[in-house]
Amino acid sequence: MLNRSYILLGAALAASLSMAAQAPDTLKEAYRGAFHVGVAINVAQITGKDAIGDALIAQQFDSITPENVMKWEVIHPKVDTYNFDLADKYVAFGEKNHMFIVGHNLCWHSQTPDWVFKDAQGKRVGRDVLLQRLHDHIATVVGRYKGRIQGWDVVNEALAEDGSLRKSKWFEIIGEDYIVKAYQWAHEADPQMQLNYNDYNLQSAAKRKGAMALVKKLQAAGIPIAVVGSQDHVRIDWPSAEDEDATIKDLASLGVKIAITELDVDVLPSVSFASADVSLHAAQDPKLNPYPNGLPAAMQTKLAEQYAMLFRVYLKNRASMSRVTLWGLTDADSWRNDWPVTGRTDDCLLFDRKDQPKPALYAVIDEARKARR
Ligand code: G3I
Repeated sequence: MLNRSYILLGAALAASLSMAAQAPDTLKEAYRGAFHVGVAINVAQITGKDAIGDALIAQQFDSITPENVMKWEVIHPKVDTYNFDLADKYVAFGEKNHMFIVGHNLCWHSQTPDWVFKDAQGKRVGRDVLLQRLHDHIATVVGRYKGRIQGWDVVNEALAEDGSLRKSKWFEIIGEDYIVKAYQWAHEADPQMQLNYNDYNLQSAAKRKGAMALVKKLQAAGIPIAVVGSQDHVRIDWPSAEDEDATIKDLASLGVKIAITELDVDVLPSVSFASADVSLHAAQDPKLNPYPNGLPAAMQTKLAEQYAMLFRVYLKNRASMSRVTLWGLTDADSWRNDWPVTGRTDDCLLFDRKDQPKPALYAVIDEARKARR
């Protein structure tokens, strides 16, 4: 175990360290040799405005994903305008810190500007025009970072909850072969880069079946798909260890590696839909926001137990796992504070709103130690 200085982590950690007698490993040290531990980073972190966050990211994680800055609406807002400023800074941050750098994402139903699907008269474009636009976008963006981004989420969330293909504009205008084409073009633009498929709720049997069928189709078309990403936007009481284990094993049986790409553990009351579909929103209600002043100790413990369980399952399947990425650094950064209800206080990550480690962080590090014994 390494006796590291955690000066950045402040008083709370210093106190718990003196109690623990020995400094804990960092996340990346604890999991070295098992899989990468990554984090999604936001604009403040990419631009250096969140200096404490940046130091914590460099200290704890060996992989990064851009939470938003590589999405189509940011990187390619107009037909002839690409905006690489933030994406360039993101990649430079990863290189400076010798990280495994992920690209997110190239083709998604969400956060894609309207112009992509319309002609100059505002009418829906046809298949050929949309294919050309998809090709040009992928060739330009992947080409720019060739050899510098190690894996791209090429197609993101192409499945509906029943496992059929989502009826997105991509699907409606092009047809189902938009998926194979996107992967072909990404592979052509950077043949060394890992091709990822990324989706949520893969613990649901129907959706997982759809994901497996999609991967098989890609393989049959000769696409060297390397990684299936299970986002793991999960809950304090879902999924069970058995469901998580079955999800990883089923997907890995296709000969791909598994990445957990967007891990967070929701502690708030559930609203009527349980997914990560950002187009859905629920009304505000104080009953849905029970911890505005912080999580009670019993809930912190429960959260730590759920994280520990998940990492036990990941470790058990380590031969199939390439990476586990947290969807945000601290609770203050999380998208969950604003979805599906705006202005809530979720405590779903490993660091709190003051950049301090939570019991869940220690629990996760502890699982790696136990696995080494
Ligand atoms: O950039 C604008 C900013 O200019 C404006 O001032 C601000 C005010 O609302 O909005 C900003 O954009 C927001 C953006 O996050 C950056 O904060 C968007 O409205 C908001 O919709 C966007 O949400 C992101 C969401 O994807 C949609 O792209 C979340 O941060 C991000 O965590 C979330 O991530 C997705 C993954 O990409 C795919 N899987 C599900 C996951 C969670 O929804």
